[in-house]
Amino acid sequence: MLMRYWGRKPLKLIDEIMSDIDGTVIDPFGGAGTIVLSALKHGNKGVYLDINPYAWLVAFVNIVEINAEEFMRRGEEVLENLTEVRKRTLRNDYLYYPNGKPFWKERNVERVSQFFSPNNFRKLYSILRAIDNGKTSPEVKIALYGAFCSSLFKASKMKRENAGSWGVPSYWIPERHKEVDAVEAFSSEVKRFYSYFRRNRGYKLHEDVELFIKNSLSFRYDKDLILFTDPPFFDEVQYMELSFFYLGRWLRESKFKEVVKEIIGENIAFRMHDEIIVNPNKGINYAKYLKLLDKFLIKTKKNEGKISSFSL
Ligand SMILES: C[S@@+](CC[C@H](N)C(=O)[O-])C[C@H]1O[C@@H](n2cnc3c(N)ncnc32)[C@H](O)[C@@H]1O
Repeated sequence: MLMRYWGRKPLKLIDEIMSDIDGTVIDPFGGAGTIVLSALKHGNKGVYLDINPYAWLVAFVNIVEINAEEFMRRGEEVLENLTEVRKRTLRNDYLYYPNGKPFWKERNVERVSQFFSPNNFRKLYSILRAIDNGKTSPEVKIALYGAFCSSLFKASKMKRENAGSWGVPSYWIPERHKEVDAVEAFSSEVKRFYSYFRRNRGYKLHEDVELFIKNSLSFRYDKDLILFTDPPFFDEVQYMELSFFYLGRWLRESKFKEVVKEIIGENIAFRMHDEIIVNPNKGINYAKYLKLLDKFLIKTKKNEGKISSFSL
């Protein structure tokens, strides 16, 4: 898959289970979209939900048909249209929850802006502006925001020398770090995205697949949908906390929200407190987490062919 996401399940494993399924598959905790992608590959239709707009972005580029040539052209245009920016910090980018408590993960800085050298920060901001100002379809724009996000870690001080280009934002600057030049990082992501879009046909939004940014507890489940899902597991991975690095702050400064609205017709928000996860700093203890999962099971009890990776 093109963009990675924490806790993503291996497609091969999902494919094995999917081979017996026939109908419309819904995954209300969709993440990177692995389950829905597998459903589509097997000739089914798919419905994806996730509360996290960053997960939606990842699933979108992994699944939806995007015109490769148009994407490449617009990616090159972005690189040709970089302008000088004076910005040095992102707004409200402190590593704290809205209730004032610190992020769950131990960290050695206070805010997202601190992960970037002034030079890379300005370059990244300029790339984001050029994406915002470019004229293209909303689908291609989402893919450009995806390539931008994929270059953020590489261009940050979290990147270690000789380490892979994808990392979990640990919110930790290692003593020995070596960030990649932001323009180079974005340019190489554009090439990688282009070759993925050329190799993979992708699926049509609204015809083959629906992708929603929604709380799975407030969705009305048609009983004919086949439920196949992989819910968040305790506190193992703090999805929204990790996504804050990308979406919570960087994309918040862009027109991402408006572009998403053009596609899904709704305003989106980054609702950290509605995530089903154990995290005492967010006010969700184990008992509350179980209650929320129970609520989900009751809501979906009439759905056909329930398959859950609880048992995987
Ligand atoms: C285990 S991950 C899914 C990973 C996915 N199977 C994959 O392969 O990429 C669980 C997902 O549930 C989402 N989630 C947590 N609380 C949610 C809620 N209330 N409504 C919808 N999604 C939620 C998280 O954002 C996370 O992406």
